[in-house]
Amino acid sequence: PGIRPLIAGNWKMNGTIREAIALAESIGANAPRGEADPDLVVFPPFPHLHAVGSTLMGHGVAMGAQDCHAEPKGAHTGDVSAPMLRDIGCAYVLVGHSERRLNHHESDADVRDKAAAAIMAGVVPVICVGETMAQKAAGQSESVIQRQLQNSMPDRFSTARGVVAYEPDWAIGTGRTPSEEDITTIHALLRRLAPAGTRLLYGGSVKAGNAPVILALPNVDGVLVGGASLAAAEFLAIAAAA
Ligand code: G3H
Repeated sequence: PGIRPLIAGNWKMNGTIREAIALAESIGANAPRGEADPDLVVFPPFPHLHAVGSTLMGHGVAMGAQDCHAEPKGAHTGDVSAPMLRDIGCAYVLVGHSERRLNHHESDADVRDKAAAAIMAGVVPVICVGETMAQKAAGQSESVIQRQLQNSMPDRFSTARGVVAYEPDWAIGTGRTPSEEDITTIHALLRRLAPAGTRLLYGGSVKAGNAPVILALPNVDGVLVGGASLAAAEFLAIAAAA
């Protein structure tokens, strides 16, 4: 019993279509598919979704997108809706990644509306939360994350078998990770706040080397991997640690 682990690879804004197909082929061909194995999902850039979805077909690896709009359609130049993501084969969508919150000024309310749109479209939202180094230094990690998560979860989140990812922005792409104690504390908080059955991921400088320790921590149901998900062997080694 318990929650099946989820190993997620966020490819961010990297690679050509050819490279994306090669990466997806390699992950798809070698993905573990036993009863006790984790679920795998990759998040390619929008222009690569179609090719990656075709490549992964039948390989038991899911696909997601890195963002969506809160409205299902309309005059929103440059945006992509959740129904479009569902149509192209996305099972998941990241909402409120720190790079969206910071670089695109997305608020908790924006994130909540995007997550609601995802659920409405039949796409599982992965709600990302995390504190800054300044907030951590001020001892505010737990209060910040509590506020972010409570304000970012839409009403129907409990019915969506949703995912929450804890990613402190100072750990993203830096090679630095929180202490085991800090991850344990934050994940215990997430477990209290999120609906039962929500999968809780840790993200930020996860590599094959530190994945076994992180994945063994209580209330860590998987990882959200950035840089290390761009190499199939490394990503699969992380999955093998789950
Ligand atoms: O979504 C993934 C995270 O932002 C982590 O990125 O593994 O490159 O630190 P990273």
